[in-house]
Amino acid sequence: MAEKNIIEKLNSCVSSVRRVTDFVPRVALTLGSGLGDYAKNMRVAAEIDYKDIDGFPVSTVAGHAGKLIFGHIGDVPLVCMQGRVHYYEGYPMTDVVLPVRLMKMLGATSLVLTNAAGGLGDGMAAGDLMLITGQISSFVPSPLIGPNIDELGPRFPDMSEIYDRELIALAKKCAAELGIDLKDGTYLQFTGPAYETPQEVRMAKILGADAVGMSTACEAVAANHMGMRIVGISCISNLACGLSEKPLSHEEVQAAADEAAPRFAALVTKLIEGMGELCR
Ligand code: HPA
Repeated sequence: MAEKNIIEKLNSCVSSVRRVTDFVPRVALTLGSGLGDYAKNMRVAAEIDYKDIDGFPVSTVAGHAGKLIFGHIGDVPLVCMQGRVHYYEGYPMTDVVLPVRLMKMLGATSLVLTNAAGGLGDGMAAGDLMLITGQISSFVPSPLIGPNIDELGPRFPDMSEIYDRELIALAKKCAAELGIDLKDGTYLQFTGPAYETPQEVRMAKILGADAVGMSTACEAVAANHMGMRIVGISCISNLACGLSEKPLSHEEVQAAADEAAPRFAALVTKLIEGMGELCR
């Protein structure tokens, strides 16, 4: 997609949202599987269906209902993406990351990314939470391919510290205070939609990954390009293919994510409250 179309689309999304609300978020949050109803924890100020945002990609996956929700957690103004679009649905990467770019343009300076992922780190079990401390996005196209959009960020952005050091420390502190065992590690994004083969999982492990999934890393690249401070947490909904006896099913992945949801939500809430201090 040409550079002009991307920025035109973003501007028309901003206009659609601004016709509904003048809410200015400070933190942006993407909700992965299991956190779909996280908004019940927010004091909601406004909501807008993705389909009512002119140019916004609308998800096709069951269980990924789509709307942007504006409101507060504690005193922190937040915009939350309930439902994301995935690259495997057939959208160009620039559409996949459009929501993250939009949330930045609406005012959010930091981003909390959540997802469900397959675990392959040592000692991991289904139901664990993993703080993302680094990522491998080399198996999906970069959302930055194409003419650079200078309004968003530089042509050759540094990616040495995508996940913000202070936010990593904050997430660890929040988990400790809540008594949650928070693993940490590297997230690797594959395209999906098929789950990995055992051989691909072995490759990912050799490459240094601790979790594999089908989202998030591309969003982090786009957000880092725009200078957002990023923190990411995976719900390890299953051991990656080949590491347990059972074949993977979407229903079981969803069920494990749902089971971990209360712990996940408590951690995200404490983290966002803490970000109110850190991310002015
Ligand atoms: N692989 C890829 N994506 C996933 C997985 C997995 O095992 N579990 C949840 N999302």
